[in-house]
Amino acid sequence: MSEIDSLKSELESLQADALQAFSAADNLNDLQKLRVQYLGKKGALTEVLKGVGKLAPTDRPMIGQHVNKTKSALAAALDSTEADLAVKAKAARIEAERVDVTLPGRSKGKGALHPVQHGLDEITAIFSQMGFVVAEGPEIEDEFHNFDALNIPAEHPARAMHDTFFVKQMADQPMLLRTHTSPVQIRAMKRFLAEGGEPPLAVVAPGRVYRCDYDVTHSPMFHQVEVFKVDRDVSMAHLKGVLKHFLSTYFEKEVEIRLRPHYFPFTEPSAEVDIGCVFCAGKGCRICKGSGWIEVLGSGMIHPKVLESVGIDSEEFSGFAFGLGVERLVMLKQGIPDLRLFFENDVRFLSRMGVSK
Ligand code: DAH
Repeated sequence: MSEIDSLKSELESLQADALQAFSAADNLNDLQKLRVQYLGKKGALTEVLKGVGKLAPTDRPMIGQHVNKTKSALAAALDSTEADLAVKAKAARIEAERVDVTLPGRSKGKGALHPVQHGLDEITAIFSQMGFVVAEGPEIEDEFHNFDALNIPAEHPARAMHDTFFVKQMADQPMLLRTHTSPVQIRAMKRFLAEGGEPPLAVVAPGRVYRCDYDVTHSPMFHQVEVFKVDRDVSMAHLKGVLKHFLSTYFEKEVEIRLRPHYFPFTEPSAEVDIGCVFCAGKGCRICKGSGWIEVLGSGMIHPKVLESVGIDSEEFSGFAFGLGVERLVMLKQGIPDLRLFFENDVRFLSRMGVSK
């Protein structure tokens, strides 16, 4: 066989091998390797070309044509196989990433507001809408603001009744966890006056309070909202009007209210406030112990001594104040029987009573 013929047949078998290898490739990576193997700088075709040098110069153009034909046949086959494989790869990817849109979604387990937080927000919002300004005070209080300034002097029995948690003796006085939100009355009035304010002043002060107590209706930490207003000629009629509006808005129905004489050191006169039982509409039931009335909060006209303790002239100005327990109101509104449920963090209770936003 002449050199030419043997080169030709070498080219033919190379082409046949290559085409078979291309069609057997089942991914783009392998195909790329084959491209290098056959057409690369050190590839099979280059190898064959080396033999061309040995040919007579007159024979070279002819075999050159053959080489070129083989080269383009291989390149064309590579390109079309590559295109096919690319289509297949895309189809496979789409198949692999297929989403079953009919499957139910995975829930994120959305949380909810704790019922007490929700109650606190609701109550504060009602007073904000009436024009009361929101104020806050520290949970670690001194004896002056928690007791003395509120007309509860050192030997007063009310101090003992508050079951106070003392935390630390500061240089001049004991520090404690506030037993009620009433000290915010003092702080808010002082701040207001210090900023050059003059009554009228209307404040709502929500927050945590602490007492050493734990049973069905008491917890060592609970929430109160303190509300007060100071102005000229404030009377108990204003107090009663604000209470009636607030309680009817909160319970989402017209509630009856009754003021019962009581004693608080920081108000004079003082009254406990009852609402007509929201469960039996006043007929008498287990919740209201047959009386038709439920006690909900303490109130009164701010004691002149309290006004004087912050430097407000009690001859010129008067004020009403009341303080309510948030847990108690939420229990009444939602029919929750045991206060401790709020703090035991049982998810069954929290997810049933929690409020989604
Ligand atoms: N501070 C009282 C308490 O925690 C509640 C209270 C009663 C607040 C009468 C008042 C009030 O402002 O006038 O028991």
